[in-house]
Amino acid sequence: MMGRGTVARKLVISSILAVVAWVGSGLLGFPHVFQVMFVIYVGLGLLVFLLLDAPALGRFSGWNAVWALLGFYIVLSGVYIFGATILPQYDPAIEKGKIEKILKPRLKRLLAEKTRVEKELTQVKSLETQTQMLFVRLNAYVPAPVIADEPERGPISVVDRGREVYELYECYNCHKIGGQGSVKKRGPILDNIGSFLTVEDVKRKIFDPTYLYAEGFEKEHKKGRMPDTYKDLMTDEEVTALATYLSTLKNPEANTPKPVFVKSNVQHGFTVFGYVRDVKGRPAVGVEVHAMPQKKGGHGASAKTNDSGYYEIFIHMHNEDVGVSVTVTAQSATGEFVAEYDPSDKVTKRQQSVDLVLPVS
Ligand code: HEC
Repeated sequence: MMGRGTVARKLVISSILAVVAWVGSGLLGFPHVFQVMFVIYVGLGLLVFLLLDAPALGRFSGWNAVWALLGFYIVLSGVYIFGATILPQYDPAIEKGKIEKILKPRLKRLLAEKTRVEKELTQVKSLETQTQMLFVRLNAYVPAPVIADEPERGPISVVDRGREVYELYECYNCHKIGGQGSVKKRGPILDNIGSFLTVEDVKRKIFDPTYLYAEGFEKEHKKGRMPDTYKDLMTDEEVTALATYLSTLKNPEANTPKPVFVKSNVQHGFTVFGYVRDVKGRPAVGVEVHAMPQKKGGHGASAKTNDSGYYEIFIHMHNEDVGVSVTVTAQSATGEFVAEYDPSDKVTKRQQSVDLVLPVS
């Protein structure tokens, strides 16, 4: 009935099936338990097919039939119970523990995140109040009507903008323009500053108060009375507008002190020095000598010769003025030179000697 050949064939086929079920379910991502189950099913299938081919048992009768039935039932139940116990069990308590383990740290993180966000929100709120307070203060400087008719006003001129910047940065706390501001004469009157300083000079003075000082304010200058914080506060547009506005202030009647450029900073200027003599080589005493950079907006300076006919003039030239020619005049005598220096050299004094000979008068 059942040849050895068929049994071997069924064993081979189910072994292949078992391997396919194991590898296939593994590749498909089934958990380990399922892989085991599939292989068990293949095994059960083999058993069924082997049983189908098995030779029929002889007929049972009487008590034998009862014992056989009971025995079959006991064996089958034993196999089932034993099989079920060796397979992994599902325990709700353990699963719940696992889920809690996974969720707890996440919950903790979420709670921490929530407190952090809440803290940041309060910070944002306090910043908002601060900003509002700042706006209130700013509005005090910019009169409301100006904002109200801004659309019709159109773009304002640079000079008007400069006047606005002057107010905004409260320069009037120490300076006077048109009789307004600085009750306690802390800084110079600026009404004639445009006669002394170019836009570029004013910009430099605002960003670097050590750049020059107002004559008669040496003590205040040394004490650093003028704030040196504007370079961090003002935008380029603001300082340019402000300097443009100040350079238009040219009231010769006003008592604006003359600016004196600080010589210790070589980047600020250039010294012209030399002797003025007559044709016989005698020193020309007390003669006014004038040095003038030959460039647009250049500011000249003068000095008088001493008893030896010696003079020294500090002219105001910047790094970018390298190569500019300078004329030096004393009465009818004239000299000229080209200012040469290394703009990156911030140590060597920039100077040039020019001797002049006065023709006999
Ligand atoms: C806390 C007081 C104070 C404030 C604010 C102040 N300055 Fe001055 N400023 C001075 C004093 C003091 C001097 C004179 C000493 C010096 O030149 O360093 C001076 C000098 C000047 C000079 C040179 C004047 C001259 O005759 O040579 C200019 C230009 C000037 N300030 C512009 C400004 C501008 C623009 C502002 C606003 C952005 C401003 N200052 C704000 C105190 C102040």
